Amino acid sequence: MAYLREIITDGHPTLRKVAKKVEADELRDPLFQQLIDDMFETMYHAPGIGLAAPQINISKRLFVVDLGEEKDDRGPLVFVNPRFTETEGEVEAIEGCLSVPGMIGEMTRHARVVCSALDRYGKRFSVEATGLFSRCLQHEMDHLDGVLYTDKAKNVRPAVTEEEHAALAEVEGEADGIARVAQAVRGTDRDAAPQAEAALSA
Ligand code: NI
Repeated sequence: MAYLREIITDGHPTLRKVAKKVEADELRDPLFQQLIDDMFETMYHAPGIGLAAPQINISKRLFVVDLGEEKDDRGPLVFVNPRFTETEGEVEAIEGCLSVPGMIGEMTRHARVVCSALDRYGKRFSVEATGLFSRCLQHEMDHLDGVLYTDKAKNVRPAVTEEEHAALAEVEGEADGIARVAQAVRGTDRDAAPQAEAALSA
C-alpha cells in the first residue's frame, strides 16, 4: 500500500539543502522501500513525470521518474545516489516544477546525459538519456543539490496560455500537459523525442 505525501513548495528550507547520500543499509529498511512506493504514488497523483525526495521533505539523494512509456529504460525508474558520468550539448526549453506551482521559464540543459545510480535494491545501473528524459534527470538531480530551476531559468513567469500550461508538463508538469507529452513521447522513438519537446515549447 502506497500513500500520498505532501509536496513542499518554494520557500521550504528542505528544498534548499544538499541532500544526504543514501547508505546501503537504508535500502534494506522496509520503511525506505515504502518511501519509494509513496514517491511514485505522489508523483502519479500530482501528476508528474519526476519527483525527488527533497520535494516531500526527505533530504536524501534519490528521485523517481516515469515518462509514461512501456520501455523499461524510461520508467518507472528509481535513482539512488545518482551522478552524471557523461554530459553533452545544450538545449533550451520551457520547464516547470511541482514545487513551484503554476510557473514556467526557459531553461538550458544538457542535450544528452548518461546517469549512473543504484536501483531500489542497491544494484548499480546506467542509463543514457536525451530529450525530455534527459531534461527530467537534470531537473531532479538539481533538487538533490538544493537547486530550483527558477534559480537559473530565464523569463520565469506564470503559465497563462494553453501552450504554456502544456509546457508545464515538461519535467514535472500538470495534468493536461502530461497527457500531451506522454502522447508525443510515445509516438516517437528515442531520437525523435527532442522534436516532441521542441513542439511543446513553441
Ligand atoms: Ni521540480
